[in-house]
Amino acid sequence: MASPLRRAAAVAALAGCALAASPAPAHAVAGGAPADAARYPWLAAVGSPVFFLRPAGQFCGGVLIAPDQLLTAGHCVSIAKYVPGALTVTFGRSDLVERGGEQVGVRSVKVHPQYRETTFQDETVPHHDLAILTLDRKVARPTVRLGSPAGAAAGTIAGWGTTSENDLLNTKLRDAAVPIRDTAACTAVYGDSYDPADMACAGDGRTDSCTFDSGGPLLVNGRVAALVSWGLGCGRPGYPGVYTSVADLP
Ligand code: ARG
Repeated sequence: MASPLRRAAAVAALAGCALAASPAPAHAVAGGAPADAARYPWLAAVGSPVFFLRPAGQFCGGVLIAPDQLLTAGHCVSIAKYVPGALTVTFGRSDLVERGGEQVGVRSVKVHPQYRETTFQDETVPHHDLAILTLDRKVARPTVRLGSPAGAAAGTIAGWGTTSENDLLNTKLRDAAVPIRDTAACTAVYGDSYDPADMACAGDGRTDSCTFDSGGPLLVNGRVAALVSWGLGCGRPGYPGVYTSVADLP
């Protein structure tokens, strides 16, 4: 790879989320509240020391599904699969500026073989947006089970991401309840970019996931039903968030 700076730019790009300059909605985890990381012991901040923009180099979330296996979004690591050593995984930190919690390295990265990108307006649309990071050691932490959003009215999102499209600074873990939407609510605004075969639709156009929340959970009944993937902006009226189904692991 090139210089650290170029690598940082690459990592920022692979985080896949343009820091949009458009007006922020009042509530974009947009619309949530600060959360205690102890409530989410299996939730990790995925980052890289070369991503200087953020404390802990954080740019995504991930969920522990086995003692050494972290599930995250494919777009979070679609470049880093060539440099797994550039990734860090941090558990148990309610605020990324803190020193506490547990940090682990990454031995290998497996992105979904059908991962690909299209575009919707200015947004990158990742398909089969899943990756598994094999950690360089087993961690002594609870794992989380996978589920499905089918039939549920609402779920919970959690992440260290921005609280609106114009917020670059949030470093605190936040969570929020979001309604699970039907396919029509996403195809109505996203057309064919929304693929119900491997995506889920959630959010009310106010409360939403946002930049740097990708790879984090949409929890339904205590299980990870889908991961934060994409959307047009954050919390824009009429535009739900799009989540990647965890039904077909890489
Ligand atoms: N791609 C973003 C990230 O890397 C997540 C965007 C989610 N957007 C939304 N409107 N729900 O963190």
